[in-house]
Amino acid sequence: MSNLTRRQILLGGSAVAAASLIPAVPKTPLTPQMRMMAQAVATDISRPDYIIRLSSNENPYGPSRVALQAIDANMHRTNRYNMQGERSLAEVIARINGLTSDHLMIGSGSGEILNIAGMLAGMSGGSVVCIDPTFQALLRYAHSAGAEIIRVPVNEAMAADLDGMRRAIRPDTNLVYLVNPNNPIPNIINGKEMRDFVLEMSESRLVFVDEAYHEYVEDPNYSSMLELVANGHKNIVVARTASKIHGLAGLRIGFGYAHPDLIKDMQWRKTGDTTVLSIEAAMASYQDDEFQNFSRRKNRESRAIVEDMCERYSLRYIKSNTNFSLIETGIENQQFQSTMLKHGIATGRDFPPINKTWSRISMSKPEEMEYFVQIYARLFT
Ligand SMILES: Cc1ncc(COP(=O)(O)O)c(C=O)c1O
Repeated sequence: MSNLTRRQILLGGSAVAAASLIPAVPKTPLTPQMRMMAQAVATDISRPDYIIRLSSNENPYGPSRVALQAIDANMHRTNRYNMQGERSLAEVIARINGLTSDHLMIGSGSGEILNIAGMLAGMSGGSVVCIDPTFQALLRYAHSAGAEIIRVPVNEAMAADLDGMRRAIRPDTNLVYLVNPNNPIPNIINGKEMRDFVLEMSESRLVFVDEAYHEYVEDPNYSSMLELVANGHKNIVVARTASKIHGLAGLRIGFGYAHPDLIKDMQWRKTGDTTVLSIEAAMASYQDDEFQNFSRRKNRESRAIVEDMCERYSLRYIKSNTNFSLIETGIENQQFQSTMLKHGIATGRDFPPINKTWSRISMSKPEEMEYFVQIYARLFT
């Protein structure tokens, strides 16, 4: 970060005009067919003329202003290898979390950390136990590397069945994968139950806790498992990402936290590098509490709009601690998806084995969620 000091960037008071540095977030335009369809069905609803993405659990506000400034200020450094960047970021992130930087590795998104753990688990065959449904990246990798995946269905309330997972463990199970809050079901596991389970499971195998949505959680019953890593437990990996609340999904930065011995074991298996721009953007963003608070507040507003809609039309939904909702629309999801897309709204795909009449709806800006509700009401009620 040469032209701007970090303090200048954080204060947003640099000599560089902030407004000119912040491009409007590019939108995907509607096709002519979508325009015609929208006019035919809902002439009285004023609509955006781009596709509203409620499909990938992103931050609709994009990267923070300070992250964009950091990217701009470091553009000229992209001719150089990024020798020290990852270490400096690791130190900042470790400090924020009360750890030393040898407890931390940085990946190309948390996806890289998930893949490495999946490869470690699958290399010697054996099995991996997980909640079903859940996020697939680690499981796909472990399966390709040779592991059998044992999926333990969620219970009637769509909550993780930890006792069922205990029963599913076999002598050859070398990894337990927990996503908390889960995806596509946006609920959490009770903090005490989770802690007891992770401690018990990690006595004789690796436990991977994916906390991609950690920053959105508001339920007081939730606990991060980072504390177990900080306390020196050896067989636990916690993953976090810059892709969600930090709005840096396209820049690919994620974090793996574990005991330093395990970090060494995972670190050499990395196959790619991060970039000057992704490191500097993350460095700025993680020190920008204002943007995180803003994003959390807007996400809460958007979630309330969708939950109100569910209450109004008596739709079942799962209380969310993330930036997406899971709602039972009563309509087959593929039909729901294609109908919504005709109105310029991209919604989530199917998530088997969840019943096909549930849809995952990622949060976007409150005004875009209002539009989603208006279209839903017009078409389906
Ligand atoms: C639970 C979970 N883990 C990990 C990821 C991967 O995120 P990234 O590779 O962008 O860090 C996602 C992305 O949607 C996710 O939902």
